[in-house]
Amino acid sequence: MSRRDLVEVRSLSDGEAANIYLDLTLPVGHSRPYTVTNTAQSIDGRTALAGSSRGIGSALDRRLLRRVRAAAEAVLIGANTLRAEEIPFQFAPDVLASRLRRGLPRELLVVIITAGATPLPVQRRLFARPSPDIVPLILTSQQAAPGLVEQAAGRSRVLPVGENGVDLPEALRLLHREHGVRRLVVEGGPRLNAELLTEGLVDEVFLTLAPWLLGGTSPGLVAGELPESTQRPLDLLSALGYQGELFLRYRVRHRAPG
Ligand SMILES: NC(=O)c1ccc[n+]([C@@H]2O[C@H](COP(=O)([O-])OP(=O)(O)OC[C@H]3O[C@@H](n4cnc5c(N)ncnc54)[C@H](OP(=O)(O)O)[C@@H]3O)[C@@H](O)[C@H]2O)c1
Repeated sequence: MSRRDLVEVRSLSDGEAANIYLDLTLPVGHSRPYTVTNTAQSIDGRTALAGSSRGIGSALDRRLLRRVRAAAEAVLIGANTLRAEEIPFQFAPDVLASRLRRGLPRELLVVIITAGATPLPVQRRLFARPSPDIVPLILTSQQAAPGLVEQAAGRSRVLPVGENGVDLPEALRLLHREHGVRRLVVEGGPRLNAELLTEGLVDEVFLTLAPWLLGGTSPGLVAGELPESTQRPLDLLSALGYQGELFLRYRVRHRAPG
């Protein structure tokens, strides 16, 4: 192994840990948003405990989740993740201030993706107690859109993108074209991550490795096996450690066109 292949994990002091990803800047995408996934996983590759991601990552991991989110115009979430847990999207004042300093909009677009056969959890704060800074958007199929408009009852726009399911490449182009989304953070779950990776739509992977062995059957950051032609190598961009937890950032090596 050459010296170049050795990556040392930097173990951070309290002060350094408090600043991780504070002013993170993501590249902008040109025909679709630059897209990163963000996941916390235990050492044995579990992303949920009793059906919820709560308790996988530390308090610092949750803070970093919000900081990565703050580096993008929009967040994308699979409907099952919203069904599984209440997700607080509101930014703390310091995170919002840093977001504005970087020229990002005050509003965060929260995009929920659903085929529409199973009801959405409209009791979630995202829909039930809307904030002017958090703008929900439901992407679904042509078939399911009328039923979802009824469920959302004016609390979210509903856009059809595809006949039966959502056409993900077109959905990302639409977010870029019509909603000004240049950077997108995908917060899972594992099934949505797998679909986006299969379509070659992920540019970076943020992965927290939490120092726990949990057992169980929840998938890792990708549910199921990716088709061989879409399995991609990753380049490690940074590896930071704090109190046994690792915060890893990788870039996906895309296949050269042609
Ligand atoms: N540890 C972590 O970082 C983390 C992060 C996120 C989630 N999680 C955990 O992961 C679990 C949920 O993940 P999951 O993999 O089961 O589900 P998921 O990826 O959150 O959501 C899958 C759902 O998204 C919708 N969807 C995805 N692709 C679609 C497409 N192309 N067209 C239309 N709809 C589409 C469908 O919703 P419909 O069923 O409505 O059609 C599908 O059932 C929960 O336990 C959650 O706690 C953990």
